[in-house]
Amino acid sequence: MGTDAARWQGKRVLVAGGTGFLGGHFARRLRQLGAEVTSCSRGEGVDLRDPLAAREAISRARPTVVINCAANQGGVAYQEECPGTILYDNTLIQLHTLDALRQVDPTIRYVNIIPACAYPAEPRDGAYRESELEAGPMHPSADNYGVTKRLAVLQARHYARQYGVASTCVVLANTYGPHDHFGPTRSHVLAALLERFREAHHTGASEVVVWGRGLAERDLLYVDDAIEGTLRVVEQCPDAGLLNIGTGRGVSVREIAETVSGVVGYTGRITFDATRPEGPLRKILDIERLRQLLGWTPPTPLAEGVRHTLEWLETAQSEEAAA
Ligand SMILES: NC(=O)c1ccc[n+]([C@@H]2O[C@H](COP(=O)([O-])OP(=O)(O)OC[C@H]3O[C@@H](n4cnc5c(N)ncnc54)[C@H](OP(=O)(O)O)[C@@H]3O)[C@@H](O)[C@H]2O)c1
Repeated sequence: MGTDAARWQGKRVLVAGGTGFLGGHFARRLRQLGAEVTSCSRGEGVDLRDPLAAREAISRARPTVVINCAANQGGVAYQEECPGTILYDNTLIQLHTLDALRQVDPTIRYVNIIPACAYPAEPRDGAYRESELEAGPMHPSADNYGVTKRLAVLQARHYARQYGVASTCVVLANTYGPHDHFGPTRSHVLAALLERFREAHHTGASEVVVWGRGLAERDLLYVDDAIEGTLRVVEQCPDAGLLNIGTGRGVSVREIAETVSGVVGYTGRITFDATRPEGPLRKILDIERLRQLLGWTPPTPLAEGVRHTLEWLETAQSEEAAA
């Protein structure tokens, strides 16, 4: 059984950050399901670092659900470039969005999208469990961002106690798919490799060098599954609290590179540069709670998700070239 369209028909949903990668997918899917979707972002004139702007955006939209995808973040290079701004902006975005919601109407349902970097860098058995969010320090490569999301989870818990605001904090695994960021500074592992292998394929390069030893494992979630899982949570178990959505399976950077190069059709050599940073060794979400609560796990195999992403990228780039 898929997402229940009847539940979303005519429902007013505010997607904060609805112009971004995940927010855009939420907005498109919810519109398909018949919801009345409003988005807010700086590009649309709403800066959620400003508490008044956050309150006005929520008052104007009069939503019954707010899905918060607003964030100032990027890949490894973006982290290197402005770590302080990332900490500052995201702390304000998180605090002000939920506080504005409770001021406007504490009965609005709040869904906050959380990245796995909020978890301890060295989780027990290499798996991130909801009950162990605060069990250890975050990885120093992204603790400036992760701390803002840990704060958001705490804020949600305490706002539930003090104001009765019902919220769900959904931790998504590394999500990829159409409309992802493919530029050199903002891209995450899969989008970055897809761009590199496509370029190597087109130019006939004999070798692609991948950062790190190829051993780091990631839990890669296709974006349609991320959206589907989150909407199911909102529909079926609105009081889930903190909940992981991922595949629960680690794919090594070597396997990712081989899958991507296979889909792209690149036939040259793949080598690994061990002197380059590779981030935490394992980032795998434990999805036992997801299984128990929804009886559902993300169904899209990696190669299929990569194929859809490649098709979208090629269409988008040829449309851009023709324009
Ligand atoms: N992508 C993933 O793999 C992944 C996985 C797990 C969790 N998440 C989490 O999901 C959320 C969304 O990620 P994403 O990849 O979709 O990010 P994204 O593509 O960078 O989108 C971020 C959105 O936030 C808006 N924004 C940034 N600063 C803002 C501000 N001050 N006020 C209002 N809006 C602001 C951006 O628009 P403007 O720049 O126009 O303001 C954009 O619409 C983040 O919290 C992220 O940590 C992402």
